[in-house]
Amino acid sequence: MTKSNREIALAAATFRTAKRLRRVYNRFSFPVISTGRSFAYYRKLFFDGQPEAAVLNALQGKRVLDVGCGLTPYVDDSMFQACYRAGIEFYGVDPKLSDGFKLGLFDRAKIRATGGGKMNPHPPGIERGIGTMAHELPFDDASVDMILSCYLLFIWIDDEAALEAIFREFERVLKPGGDIRVFPAPHIDPVTLQREGLVQSLQAFAIEQQYFSGLAPVTRFPPAYRLILGKTD
Ligand SMILES: C[S@@+](CC[C@H](N)C(=O)[O-])C[C@H]1O[C@@H](n2cnc3c(N)ncnc32)[C@H](O)[C@@H]1O
Repeated sequence: MTKSNREIALAAATFRTAKRLRRVYNRFSFPVISTGRSFAYYRKLFFDGQPEAAVLNALQGKRVLDVGCGLTPYVDDSMFQACYRAGIEFYGVDPKLSDGFKLGLFDRAKIRATGGGKMNPHPPGIERGIGTMAHELPFDDASVDMILSCYLLFIWIDDEAALEAIFREFERVLKPGGDIRVFPAPHIDPVTLQREGLVQSLQAFAIEQQYFSGLAPVTRFPPAYRLILGKTD
């Protein structure tokens, strides 16, 4: 087996395990886990581990969305809060934000387990937390520079019709030259996708896939790909 085939197989195993876990969740009607990962984690995955100041400087004047942001607006060391402090137009999008997150009993434990820091139940900038679904973004056409999505697409939402609706919506709001960054993802191969509409929706983008593995702990960095989808002009 070649290195890339081994990586594709390992990533596929991650997503088979996630699917089994989701079945258990659905069977017992557990709510979707909302985590609150740190800016350090997002920097490692989405910005090649660049220092905080470099990432914040590069994003000055840009509009950035974190779709499926979970509890991050409530976490002091999240990208949401770092961008708010730096005056960057950064929005967290998550349907759970629509009626104000009620921080549950286990939220602090989930945040600690996923590497996030101190929580603030009344965080500054919470008006930039938008309670809506990924396929219904309240932004004008071609008005967004970057979309991040961490632990939502492919891992929680893997229905191809739902993914198609989301990627079409992302394409609508993104400026030409803007990009979408997703982790974790399986290896995307148009040949293995079942839905023609999803394949077509992805054709609006140049797709870069980078395999991540070997970073500890495996629960935070499972074998998977980081996708960057650049909107072509
Ligand atoms: C596992 S959490 C990830 C949170 C955060 N991105 C992080 O990495 O810590 C996934 C989040 O996606 C949200 N979500 C589920 N379905 C969604 C949808 N259709 N559109 C946007 N967010 C959704 C859930 O409410 C949940 O908070």
